[in-house]
Amino acid sequence: MTTSHPTARGVTARAPGKVNLALVVGPLRDDGFHELVNVFHAVSLVDDVTATPADDVSVSVEGVHSEGVPRDATNLAVRAALLLAERAGVDDGVHLHIKKQIPVAGGMAGGSADAAAALLACDALWQTGMSRDDLAGLAAELGSDVPFALVGGTAVGTGRGERLTPALARGEYEWVVALSETGLSTPVVYGELDRLRTGRDVPAPTVPDGFMQALRSGDAEALGEALENDLQPAACSLAPALERTLEVGREYGALGAMVSGSGPTVAFLVRDHEQALDISVALTASGAADDVRRCRGPVPGARLL
Ligand code: C5P
Repeated sequence: MTTSHPTARGVTARAPGKVNLALVVGPLRDDGFHELVNVFHAVSLVDDVTATPADDVSVSVEGVHSEGVPRDATNLAVRAALLLAERAGVDDGVHLHIKKQIPVAGGMAGGSADAAAALLACDALWQTGMSRDDLAGLAAELGSDVPFALVGGTAVGTGRGERLTPALARGEYEWVVALSETGLSTPVVYGELDRLRTGRDVPAPTVPDGFMQALRSGDAEALGEALENDLQPAACSLAPALERTLEVGREYGALGAMVSGSGPTVAFLVRDHEQALDISVALTASGAADDVRRCRGPVPGARLL
């Protein structure tokens, strides 16, 4: 899939972070993943990945709190470049430079966005001729959230989250996200959920009643009430301070308040710009968040710049 030509300075692709509007976690499968219904919503916090020709495969990262991002082959963007090179029969190396806005280890799929952007940028750099469907297949191999970072918008993921159907969603939504300096590991949060559910029968996941209607209505108030995340109790059990963060947003009248994905980022759906400012100030002044970002959704998926 090639829509632009590489320049001497390389090719840049941009991919969005996400919040989960609904995350319903079903039983643990034999392959170690949980069966999910995952309503993804792409937001305007984005990462840019620039791919430049090089002798081997390497990565550099810039952006606030980016120190924790791996610089080796465990980086998901590097894995994306290596997988694409292998499948497309490319012998060239590449240097990836990642400019991060999406919180690191925050439950907003920043690593997945980097992988999606790296796939697009390297595909264009190497002119592999792969289709968007081919790239989506590679994305699903890289991680459950990577296919969504390619498509963006609002979409329902099933299976382990990688099988996507676009959602009939109306409206634009404004978000405040509260960041925490201590990340939470996704597998550990899923493990904690399993522990909390020990001895309970877990049904197959389904979209919560009334959820799609709220999404179709374009009514932020209805959507705020419908937000749901089964991982929230597990994230709060591992990081109890998140309860207080959620509470501050509710006190200031957020339309919806929830942990994003596996956390520790907390996302607040807000009425308007003014309320976004109020909640942002309250979160930082009270110390309930280490940092705050404002964003809106939905936004498009990964694309070349
Ligand atoms: O697919 P991804 O690499 O993002 O998943 C990270 C981890 O999150 C998995 O190894 C698994 O522990 C957990 N996970 C899960 N069920 C899913 C998706 C992720 O248990 N559907």
